Amino acid sequence: MCRRKRLQHSANTEQKDTVESTKRESSDNPRTAETSSATMVNQTCTDMALAKVNSGKADLEQERYLRDATRYFCGIEKPLKYGPSIDSLSDLITALHKEFETNFVNIEMVNHIMLTYKSNAREWKRFAKFDRFKYTRNLVDAGNGKFNLMILCWGEGQGSAIHDHADSHCFMKMLKGDLKETRYKMPCTQAIEMSNGVDIGQMDSDSEGEHVFDSAELTPEGDTTITVNDVAYINDNLGLHRVENPSHIETAVSLHLYCPPFDECSVFHKNSGKRIKCPVTFWSKYGVRQTESNK
Ligand SMILES: [Fe+2]
Repeated sequence: MCRRKRLQHSANTEQKDTVESTKRESSDNPRTAETSSATMVNQTCTDMALAKVNSGKADLEQERYLRDATRYFCGIEKPLKYGPSIDSLSDLITALHKEFETNFVNIEMVNHIMLTYKSNAREWKRFAKFDRFKYTRNLVDAGNGKFNLMILCWGEGQGSAIHDHADSHCFMKMLKGDLKETRYKMPCTQAIEMSNGVDIGQMDSDSEGEHVFDSAELTPEGDTTITVNDVAYINDNLGLHRVENPSHIETAVSLHLYCPPFDECSVFHKNSGKRIKCPVTFWSKYGVRQTESNK
């Protein structure tokens, strides 16, 4: 198994150590339990990738905080000691809803939940709908608007374009087969402004499909092969990626969690770096094929 080498860990690990240490101190000396508990809560609020999202300003603060906290996060390779056990797809969905109840995002815990679930085709096959010409996105759960959980089905040799993730977190777990992920650096935003004078910030929903020209060819930073039950993580801080099923004899199925959900992202032309904003759609929802009549 080829796993991505972990870089500097996120603040969450330090937070976990603090929590464990605080728990030990509290149990050793009951009189300090209340103080320690308050410290733990404060530490949690300070160090984890968390912020309330009750207002536009809080939204912005959370975005900034997460962008910083996830700059080096490359996922966790072992389940967390303090995380819930996940024995089924139903458990996984329940645990995710619970995790997102508080308007906070703990990316290590989300990663733990995805990692701890062991793929069982009997549970997910009703969502796994293939198309002979392209990979498909199949919605499993809309996460009360806070996340989207979906199954992507990859026919033999099928792959995605190079794309970003619209400033969302992306967790990708393999359910069947292998996927090859190739990463690229995010093109420089300033280059977009300099090349044609149009700021990406001026684009609106009416601009879907318009082309914005970046500076140069995208160069790959490296490949990773993700195998069954592995979890990969990416966000726009970490760059762009392309995903493909390298097998020409086996299909592949992956489980993706995006938070917050998004309905458009950018794809990039490898040779020119050209960016194209495009909508993202579902091939099926809750096991039902999407057609013009039931969209
Ligand atoms: Fe992706």
